[in-house]
Order: sequence, then C-alpha cells, then structure tokens
Amino acid sequence: MKLPKKLNPNFFATLNEKIADLKSAGADIIRLDIGSPDLPPAPHIVEALNRGASCSISHGYQSHRGTSALREAWGEMYQRVFDVSLNPDKDIQPLLGSKEGVFHLSLALLDPGDLVLVPDPGYQTYAQGALFAGADLFTIPLLPENDFLPDLSTIPVQAAQRAKILWLNYPNNPTTATASLDFFVEAVDFCRQFNILLCHDAAYTQVTFNDCRAPSVLQIPGAKEIAIEFNTLSKSHNMAGWRSGVAVGQAEALAALLNIKTHADSGHFLPITEASVAALIGDQSWLAERNAIYQVRRDVVVSALRDMGFSHQVPEASLYVWCPLQDGTTADQFVLHLLENAHVSLAPGTVFGGYGEGFVRISLVQPVERITEAMERIRNKLQVAR
Ligand SMILES: Cc1ncc(COP(=O)(O)O)c(C=O)c1O
Repeated sequence: MKLPKKLNPNFFATLNEKIADLKSAGADIIRLDIGSPDLPPAPHIVEALNRGASCSISHGYQSHRGTSALREAWGEMYQRVFDVSLNPDKDIQPLLGSKEGVFHLSLALLDPGDLVLVPDPGYQTYAQGALFAGADLFTIPLLPENDFLPDLSTIPVQAAQRAKILWLNYPNNPTTATASLDFFVEAVDFCRQFNILLCHDAAYTQVTFNDCRAPSVLQIPGAKEIAIEFNTLSKSHNMAGWRSGVAVGQAEALAALLNIKTHADSGHFLPITEASVAALIGDQSWLAERNAIYQVRRDVVVSALRDMGFSHQVPEASLYVWCPLQDGTTADQFVLHLLENAHVSLAPGTVFGGYGEGFVRISLVQPVERITEAMERIRNKLQVAR
C-alpha cells in the first residue's frame, strides 16, 4: 500500500513500542520523555466522575457545544485566574482535550496553499494539523538568545501578508520559556496588522513555580477579536487521560471549529463534563501543593545536570527541563544511548523541530526517587562514555 508522506508516525507512538519491547526483555525503564502527569486529580474531581457514571441517564451522546455548566465553569476559571470575561454562549468551546481542538482548528480554517507561522521547536500538532490541511509552514525559530520567544520582526512582510494563523505557546513546550504581557501586546499588534488569527496554546499556565504567573493572551485589550486560546485540564488538574480542554476567544474561529467537530466527534461523556466543572470551580488549593511537588523534582534534575556540567535555564513553569547538550552530540544519539544503556527515556529536541537539535527535554512526571535514580544512571553512563 502506498501511504502519503504526511502519515509519518508520531514520535511518542513509536517510542512506546520500543519501550514495550525493552520492558518485555526485562528492562526497568524510567520514562522522562512524555508530559503525562503521574499524580491523580483531587478526590472531589474523581467523586464527581463516579457520581455521574452511576447515574442511569448519563450515558448517551452529548451536544458538541458541551453543557452550559461546563462552558460557564471555564468562564469562571478565566475570570478567576486571568481576570478575563468570556461569554459562555459564544466565546467558549469545550474540547476533547486541547490537542483535538488544535488539530481540528487547522482542518476547519486552512485551505491548501495557506501559510501558517509555527514556532520551532514547538508542539508537533500545530505543524501536523496545517500539513494535513494542505497548508504551507513558515518556521519561526525559538532561540536561547531571544529567551525562546519568536522575533516577529524577522518574519518577511510577504510571509506575514500570506499567513492565516500564528501559533504561540507559553509557558512553552518544550523550551519551558514564559512570555510577558508585553510580548503578548506585540504579538496581538502583529496579528492585527496582518489580519492573522493568533492561536495561543495555554496548556501550562497553571503549572508554575514560586511567584511565576503565566498570563492569558486574552488579557490584552481587544485580543478576543483576533485571538483564540487553547486550555486544558490535562496538565493543570492531572487529567490527561480524561480528554477535557477548551478553546476560548474569537467567535468566528470557534464557530468554524464547532462545525468541524460536529462531523468528527460526538461530544464528551457527560460525567467527564461534570467532573471538569468540579475541577474548574471546586477547591483549587491542591494545585499549589502539586506544583510544589513538581518544583522539588525540577530542583533534583537541575542540580544533577549542573553537577554533570550541563548549563541550562531553570524553568519557572511547565513539566519539563530543556537541556542543551555538549560537544556537538546530536539529540537522537544522546537519547538512544541513554535509553539502551541507562534505561532512561528522554525526548530528543528534534521531535519538536530542527531548532530542537542539540537539546533534550526531561519530563518531571515521575516520583522524586525515580527521577533521582534516573539522574544517577545518566551520570554513570556519561562518565563511562567520557
Ligand atoms: C503545548 C501543548 N499543547 C497541547 C497539549 C495537548 O494537551 P491535551 O491533553 O489537552 O490534548 C500538550 C500535551 O502535551 C502540549 O504540550
């Protein structure tokens, strides 16, 4: 069978298979590659799911718009966390996880030959959605010397004029960089000038350390006319498997997204929407405790890497450490060496684009003992290699 080129497999799907083979041969693999939270959601969220699942009328198809209670709960969260007012009837579209919305938005809005501005390195679905829609990509490098923010002034006017969408993501996966409101003002101005839809992926805004407050792009006055923002309970509330996210902002873009969703899915499982409401408007105090756990893990990774001679930025947000390699080692070589010899799995920066070469991403989603052991194994293998 001849497969079209765009059907390249997802890196993590292939990695899962390789790791399954190593495990069945008896290897104890420590996975610090993927960003799937290891801790459970708070008990009141699980209780809401259980209550809903025990109810006999919970089991049918649901509206593609989501329940009004769910849209209102997302609106309450945006008001509380970002001081952003949203109209639950037209500014809020629940999603089966934000990845679904990111991908479907591209299919909904892009025609073959359209141009999309994508960050590199970046979350793969921005580029993959555009490619599936037949659109062209214009890559904006995220460089350490610019604090991993795109330099919008380097985008040629012709590309800006042709572009339909600009993707941004802060706190950033994989670089962990954060963006200020000043940067968002610049991005909104740029998109307004060239009539581009600004799509901001805010997946990690509630995974922050110390005093870091990660803003929403919708805090910029007037942004709602030019921008949509994706958010998710996957990372903020440890609910990655539940598939509960949202797109908020520019009403016509949301309507186009809803239209494609009516063809592609059949709504949430009702108890998941009820549990999502509990997550969004119930007790939030546990989030600070959870972030403190990630912070301890981060500090273990940061200090072990420093001891090994790596120099990298200390993340203020996200589930990751983004580490530059030394001596011209390629990311793929480094990761393969550690997987096969130390049984520690990291994500090579190249998964996120060409500008990720020379970096690896280390996830903080294992208990601190396992992370400590992983760093010890890495240290031992690198000492042998040197
Ligand atoms: C930047 C970013 N956006 C979106 C997602 C997808 O999240 P969800 O589980 O809501 O689909 C991820 C998941 O890793 C991510 O890193």
